[in-house]
Amino acid sequence: MANGLFVPLSTGFLLAHLVEHALTSRILLISWWTTGSPAGRQVMQQVVTGATSGIGRAYAEELAKRGLDIVLISRSEDKLRSVAKEIESRYKRQTHVIQTDFTEGHSIYSAIAKQLEGLEIGILVNNVGMNYIGVLANFLDVPDPDQRITQVINCNTLSVTQMSRLVLPGMLEREKGLIINISSEAASQPQPMLSVYSATKIFVTYFSRCLHAEYSSKGITVQCVVPFVVSTNMTHNVPVNPMVKSAASFAREALNTVGYTSYTSGCLTHALQHFALSIFFPGWLRLSSFCVQRMATFAQSIEPHLKERMAETKNKQD
Ligand SMILES: NC(=O)c1ccc[n+]([C@@H]2O[C@H](COP(=O)([O-])OP(=O)(O)OC[C@H]3O[C@@H](n4cnc5c(N)ncnc54)[C@H](OP(=O)(O)O)[C@@H]3O)[C@@H](O)[C@H]2O)c1
Repeated sequence: MANGLFVPLSTGFLLAHLVEHALTSRILLISWWTTGSPAGRQVMQQVVTGATSGIGRAYAEELAKRGLDIVLISRSEDKLRSVAKEIESRYKRQTHVIQTDFTEGHSIYSAIAKQLEGLEIGILVNNVGMNYIGVLANFLDVPDPDQRITQVINCNTLSVTQMSRLVLPGMLEREKGLIINISSEAASQPQPMLSVYSATKIFVTYFSRCLHAEYSSKGITVQCVVPFVVSTNMTHNVPVNPMVKSAASFAREALNTVGYTSYTSGCLTHALQHFALSIFFPGWLRLSSFCVQRMATFAQSIEPHLKERMAETKNKQD
């Protein structure tokens, strides 16, 4: 009897879980919308933070490809100029660059506001983000935690809130606007050995969902994007494979979900990985001391390899 019930019950459970995910739009609606966001069609400038490499650069290029002008914000003046030049020549769009360092805290936002003055911002992509350290590590096992903690919090959370504060009033006046906030799968469950990063990303998720609830009736869409692994400098340019997306294809698929969902993994393969992990690697297991110990052993074993890759990435950037 018990065995007879097990199969239908577990199938029912799986189906219910799938439907729940589909209803909350974690299973994505690819390619239904490819011509740019409705908000983007009639406005002049789109702002992308952390736009000189990885996912941010890919968003900037994809928006330009769809016919939009871009304001690129990042920390390195040289990289900004070179990415802007490339976008202008490749996509024939206008660009504007703002150099800033988001780790510096609240003092940078008045200068950013001044440089955005007079621009009608249609889309803001709050992409900039950094990890606590390039490898998995316990909270205190990071060089210079005193500075590093503040830098990660400033870069990952203050940037999202302050940049949203700067562009929202204009969007509300025009009753039109899109804010895309890049969170992370590391926020879907508490992630030991990425504690500060994981905590800042759940901040981004909750902030985005609250903002969407507050302003969607006023014409503003706030979309929270929750990627799994994308091949970028942050992930030491891990090779692209069926589970790991390239930044370009991730941004393309993720942008195609705008208008359909305010909370998304960004692409189908990441949504499926999230689904599988939530079933086979639930929060209680992830947080168990057994798992944390295994993770620490694994982190130690891959550390030399990761450090090598970090050095390679740094050399390439230099
Ligand atoms: N890659 C993934 O697998 C993954 C997964 C989930 C979520 N995410 C999130 O996606 C976002 C982008 O990540 P990514 O992998 O594309 O990272 P990335 O390749 O390291 O690129 C980060 C971008 O932000 C800029 N930046 C970094 N720190 C900055 C600062 N303090 N001030 C101003 N600009 C700064 C970088 O400029 P420089 O070119 O000067 O370094 C670069 O343009 C992050 O929020 C990350 O948390 C990434």
